[in-house]
Amino acid sequence: MRFDVLTLFPGMFPSYLGQSLLKLAIERGLIDVQLHNIRDWAHDKHHSVDDRPFGGGPGMVLKVEPVVECVEATRALTPDAGHLVMLTPHGRRLDQRIVEELAANERLILLCGRYEGFDDRVRQLLAPDEISIGDYVLGGGEVASMVVIDAVARLVPGVLGDEESNRQDSFSGEDRWLEFGQFTRPREYRGLAVPEVLISGDHEKIAEWRRAESAKRTAEQRADLLDPAPTVEQPKENETERT
Ligand code: 6GU
Repeated sequence: MRFDVLTLFPGMFPSYLGQSLLKLAIERGLIDVQLHNIRDWAHDKHHSVDDRPFGGGPGMVLKVEPVVECVEATRALTPDAGHLVMLTPHGRRLDQRIVEELAANERLILLCGRYEGFDDRVRQLLAPDEISIGDYVLGGGEVASMVVIDAVARLVPGVLGDEESNRQDSFSGEDRWLEFGQFTRPREYRGLAVPEVLISGDHEKIAEWRRAESAKRTAEQRADLLDPAPTVEQPKENETERT
């Protein structure tokens, strides 16, 4: 899977991508991350990418021309134009379902904003999939795009090694509950013992215990996950689906 990151600060990425899971995934050729500096598409001799907002107000706005042209040039690099994601606090809030949806693409183009945001015509012209990582404001979309790369890359076959761990993860699998507690050696530490059932070797009992633990944890810590409101309206039975 290929990720193209469009940013004013490409220098923020190499250290994160150069460690642990993502480093391995890149070395194995399972994912490819290409960085593009939006400033390279600036029009004037000062390479300006931002300007004061029409109508006044604080801060600076990212200019429409460099952003649109950087996206167009990046898209044209491969035959698959990719799925364009704009990282913005105004977007739909990222969750594991959206991560799974994004992971169905062969190529993601991740557009990171800075300053007070993009000239709105970027959105009007490119119709990006606008994504936020939560209801708080960051200084820019860079960290959010790393969040997307990290979460999506884990779903690319081969990246985790053991695909079963995807289904067991919190927010994943059939129920989308929190994951059960895990233990490793030693069997006892400061008076706290590992639950006996996990040492029993009885796989049926272990699965049963884990399911119960998962349910308990979810009820205690994230009751909203137990009975979530439906996210998509189902078409009525004798209504033909419009496409
Ligand atoms: Cl994607 N960008 C910014 N600037 N702030 C955010 C965000 C993104 N998601 C949550 N807050």
